Amino acid sequence: MASLGFVPFLLLLFLEGTTGRSLYPLPSKIENKYKQPLQTFRPYNIAHRGSNGEIPEETSFAYMRAIEEGADFIETDILASKDGALICFHDVTLDDTTDIAKHKDFAHRKRTYEVQGSNVTGFFVVDFTLAELKSLRVKQRYKFRDQQYNGKFSIITFEEFIAIALDANRIVGIYPEIKNPVHINEHVKWADGKKFEDKFVETLLKYGYKGAYMSDNWLKQPVFIQSFAPTSLIHASKLTDSPKIFLIDDVTIPTQDTNQSYWEITSDSYLEFIKEYVIGIGPWKDTIVPTHNNYLSVATDLVARAHAHNLQVHPYTFRNENMFLHFDFHEDAYAEFDYWVKTVGVDGLFTDFTGSLHQYQEWTTPVPGKDDKNSSALLHKIALLILSQDKV
Ligand SMILES: *[C@@H]1O[C@H](CO)[C@@H](O)[C@H](O)[C@H]1NC(C)=O
Ligand SMILES: *[C@@H]1O[C@H](CO)[C@@H](O)[C@H](O)[C@H]1NC(C)=O
Ligand SMILES: *[C@@H]1O[C@H](CO)[C@@H](O)[C@H](O)[C@H]1NC(C)=O
Repeated sequence: MASLGFVPFLLLLFLEGTTGRSLYPLPSKIENKYKQPLQTFRPYNIAHRGSNGEIPEETSFAYMRAIEEGADFIETDILASKDGALICFHDVTLDDTTDIAKHKDFAHRKRTYEVQGSNVTGFFVVDFTLAELKSLRVKQRYKFRDQQYNGKFSIITFEEFIAIALDANRIVGIYPEIKNPVHINEHVKWADGKKFEDKFVETLLKYGYKGAYMSDNWLKQPVFIQSFAPTSLIHASKLTDSPKIFLIDDVTIPTQDTNQSYWEITSDSYLEFIKEYVIGIGPWKDTIVPTHNNYLSVATDLVARAHAHNLQVHPYTFRNENMFLHFDFHEDAYAEFDYWVKTVGVDGLFTDFTGSLHQYQEWTTPVPGKDDKNSSALLHKIALLILSQDKV
């Protein structure tokens, strides 16, 4: 075990999960040294919730695995606990991706809240303190994915997520979302009277994330701030010049804060307005190229119009499983990447399978001079760790 340099770090994360305290040294203790720069010559490989095709989403291991597999950016959703801690978690409820159901002591915490116009029932993140959230364990969202890591890893904080990116042995960007800001600001109050968006930006600034797209500082610590809520992005613009991405939901879903329709926010006049605040848009891919009976239909002009406004386009979410691949791609995830990169011409891709996108890009447009690295070493270390844990 002593030869595995990574293990003390892994053990700290485990311990931290059981005590509810942050034992991981923050900020990064690793000395400034030369790191392989972020590639900026081909579309960005954005590891959606980490390498969540393999490892439960938004956990430290999902992010470390994504880094090992070649992610340019690790992506996360930021929510807030009852006591105001910013954490990495996608759903407003804990039901689908944690073991909350096993915690009988929390059984009375089930609530129904109206979230974005619908009543949602479950165990809400905003009703639990950070220490309580740290006592839970995360599980795989999809039954058809690897379940062996269920119950092994805890929820991490925004700061722990940042530490993982800063400690990577090359420059890896972060891509955090201001998630459900209306819901968070309704349920979580900070003593200093600040809003969720303020706390979010404060955290980025605290760890040195600042500077316009492609500035020297940005290239050292790349970040894209993302949100479905235009008012959050506009507010964040007053606090930081870091680049922002406006996420766009399905055509039937209005914006959560301003109640604007898909058609309104993808109009030329709106793109003209929002480009003052954002560097790009992040639409669901099926709205760019609509589908019919699981076949691709005629592509819209959204990418061309966004590019005409000098906006990047980072569509979501690319998933390897056949059930997510339209028939045109004949069950070949590489064919789908190829279509979106070469035919549609997007600038970044959110994927659950960073490793696959990386392989595709290395085969078609390799990073010049990069040495081939062994990309199964981390999985091996995790397996050893789990084995030693199970014996305790
Ligand atoms: C949610 O439930 C409350 C209480 O039953 C009800 O008043 C409200 O109309 C419901 N909202 C929606 C969007 O269904
Ligand atoms: C949102 O807009 C729709 C369509 O204009 C309208 O019917 C609905 O009442 C609005 N909802 C809110 C909460 O304002
Ligand atoms: C990659 O690393 C694993 C675990 O350390 C090892 O078992 C495997 O042989 C290595 N593969 C190559 C090609 O070096």
